[in-house]
Formats: sequence, C-alpha cells, structure tokens
Amino acid sequence: MKAGFYQFTPLFGKKKENIKKVISAVKNADVELLVLPEFFATGYQFVSDEEVAELSEPAPNGDTTRALLELSLERGIYVVAGLPEKDGSRYYNSAVFTGPDGLIGVYRKTHLFFEETLYFTPGDTGFKVWDTKIGRIGIMICFDWFFPESMRTLALSGAEVVAHPSNLVLPFCPDAMPVRCLENRIYAVTANRIGIEHRKKEQSLTFIGKSEIVSPKGEILVRAPEDEEALMVTDIDLTTTRDKSLNPFNNIFKDRRPEQYGPFY
Ligand code: ACM
Repeated sequence: MKAGFYQFTPLFGKKKENIKKVISAVKNADVELLVLPEFFATGYQFVSDEEVAELSEPAPNGDTTRALLELSLERGIYVVAGLPEKDGSRYYNSAVFTGPDGLIGVYRKTHLFFEETLYFTPGDTGFKVWDTKIGRIGIMICFDWFFPESMRTLALSGAEVVAHPSNLVLPFCPDAMPVRCLENRIYAVTANRIGIEHRKKEQSLTFIGKSEIVSPKGEILVRAPEDEEALMVTDIDLTTTRDKSLNPFNNIFKDRRPEQYGPFY
C-alpha cells in the first residue's frame, strides 16, 4: 500500500486557501493513504472561544470534510486529516477519515495538549480501527503519541497502520515513533506541519516538521526536513504487521501479562 503525508505551513484562519493548497499539492501524488496535519485547514494557535466557534465545523457536514470527501472520491484515495469539530456546544480536536466511498469515521483527540485544554473537550470516541480495502487503519492525534496506551490500544484492536495528524512543537516525537512502532509491530504515518505561529504576544509556537513514516521494525522509511514543505510517499507491506513473534519463544502480544501490571493499568 502506498502511504504518504503532506507537510506544509497552514495559514491561520485561511481555510479556503489552505484546502486549495493541499488539493493542488497532492494532485499528482501516487498515494492510497494520505495523512494531513492536525488542524490542517485552520491553523493551530486559537486565542479565544469565539475564534474556535468561528473556525470549527460539524463533521461530516462542514466545508473541510466536504472538500476531503471530494478529494477522496475524485482521486480514489483514503485521507486522514485534522480539524476542529463542532458538535452542538462542544468543540473537539478531531480527525476525519474519508475514502472513495464516503466518510469512514471521525476520531476525537483523547489527550489534549497545552492550551487546547482551554478550548476543546477531551475526545470521547476512544481509539478506533477501521477495516478498509487498503488495510486496517487507526488514528491518533499528535500528543496522543506521548501515552503508549494510545498506540497499544490501536495495535491490540488490529491496526496495521496508525495515521497520526500532528502539530508537534516538542522535539521528542520523531525519534520516539520508532519505539512505538517496534513495540506494537505496526506502521505509523506522522503528518506534522512546519512554520511559526505567534498569535499571542507572550507565546510563539515553532512547529518541528520531520513528518515521517516508520515501519514495524522501527525503521524510519522516510522523514521530511524540519522546515520545508514536503509531500512524501512510500510503499508499505501490511503483511509484516501481522506476525507479532520476535523469535520462536516470544510473541509481543501473547507475552503481555496484564494481570501483573497492577491496579494502575
Ligand atoms: C500537539 O498535540 N499538538 C502537540
């Protein structure tokens, strides 16, 4: 399966421009699963409830999801992309998953990062895996990676690939994902953004780029630069995720001993 990401600088509040940029950038990409960054069409650094309300959309009935559905249908591809989702009076940091046959699902970020906690409600969807024609695909969003439970839950639920829309500002994720992939024997596609947002006088956010695709053996198959736009695609073989054996004596799933993990797990 051909998996890829598009790393770029979303312009804050310029939804139409950002969507247009993405559609044009991926126009000729030979890709089956495309992952876009967290909040790819709106930008990241919200500074008020009003702004969140103005830029959030219902999923699937919002302009951003409609554009992604059209992209999926026209190109016959699967797309995972982050957006601020409005559901009644609540707002979620969500990712929509679209395919050639329509909307596949919505994931709402479980572990909110930093000032997202001021504006968004922690996700209530849980970690879901969708069985599609191109493979079993799970989603987590950015800071979710910091909690090993996120990818573990997806892997135990049968995920072969984790799509990981991100807006990373801390430096740790790109070098940590090989461990997440190795310990679960699955692929991950982290789609990060680049650029700086400085929408608050006292606070500037620099996004670290380095989007990457990592194999079940913990190999970084492709990695984007830290400060350049990049569209990268690589072939991944999902059959390699199905064997959880390390050697004739160890199977990383069968060897788990949840009964020994105490009352805190
Ligand atoms: C993050 O969760 N956007 C760091």
